[in-house]
Amino acid sequence: MRLATMEGMTTLDSPGTTAARVEVRGEGVTKAFGDHVVLQNIDLEIRQGEIVAMVGTSGCGKTVLMHMLLGLLPPTEGRVLVADHEKPDAPLIDIVTAPLDEIYQVRLSWAVVFQHNALFSASVYENCALWLREHTEMDEDAIRERVRESLAAVKLNVDTVMAKHRAELSGGMAKRVAIARALAVDPMVVWYDEPTTGLDPVTATHIHDLLWHTHHSPHHDGARRTTVVITHDRDLLRRIHPRVILLHGGGIAFDGPYEEFTQVKDGPVHEYLAEMPALHARPNRYGQ
Ligand SMILES: Nc1ncnc2c1ncn2[C@@H]1O[C@H](COP(=O)(O)OP(=O)(O)OP(=O)(O)O)[C@@H](O)[C@H]1O
Ligand SMILES: [Mg+2]
Repeated sequence: MRLATMEGMTTLDSPGTTAARVEVRGEGVTKAFGDHVVLQNIDLEIRQGEIVAMVGTSGCGKTVLMHMLLGLLPPTEGRVLVADHEKPDAPLIDIVTAPLDEIYQVRLSWAVVFQHNALFSASVYENCALWLREHTEMDEDAIRERVRESLAAVKLNVDTVMAKHRAELSGGMAKRVAIARALAVDPMVVWYDEPTTGLDPVTATHIHDLLWHTHHSPHHDGARRTTVVITHDRDLLRRIHPRVILLHGGGIAFDGPYEEFTQVKDGPVHEYLAEMPALHARPNRYGQ
């Protein structure tokens, strides 16, 4: 066990303990687009209860790796194995080749905040309510209450934002709706792809807190949550002290505790740390 701290709170945490169950495992994962090999022979294991940050310069393959771990993008070589929480003693399943109903079952306990939000063309309420309507027994009143709580948790003005259409949202609002939508489903595993890029510093700090508190609040069945976050946000790393995985040159250049990451004095880690603030400030492709 180690002591993980965040301003204003102290929490016992045990990321990476070998006793915890494997949540996701990549074995020899390679991805090429034509002749362009983005990632080569990646071995990676994420265990239940960990907070893992994936970092690396723009275009190094963070989103591609996350999409392969999610089963949204098939690896060119290698495989990705994942845990089915409905069957705690069952072997891991292959996220690409397992029967669709098993893959679907696994995904029901996951939530994803995509880099460009992936809100569908409808109101904020519909974006947040649809999954709950389709996959839970909740009635519409209970769904409305859950959506209101989730939107309040990301500090949006619930009364005014619920009816807004996707097209009426600013970049920062859309990002927060995407986070609210993900957390509304009470996921076991939360995947965030740049949750604070494009947010003002006050809102970004609030999202750091929300990510941390969500991670440390037990799932409704009492299980520990797992958090995977792609980020260029140095303050986020500093506040959550995650296990850090740095992608560089198609492989993993560093994998270890945040405390060690910040002590590295040369090579890709050092270069990345110097570049990090500028990367975090960059606008994304929608100029947000
Ligand atoms: N569908 C695709 N077809 C071809 N090339 C792709 C595709 N998706 C990603 N790539 C390429 O893979 C590389 C890695 O992209 P990826 O989106 O994973 O980068 P990233 O590390 O997430 O960068 P950023 O920090 O800017 O989001 C880039 O060179 C990108 O152009
Ligand atoms: Mg990306």
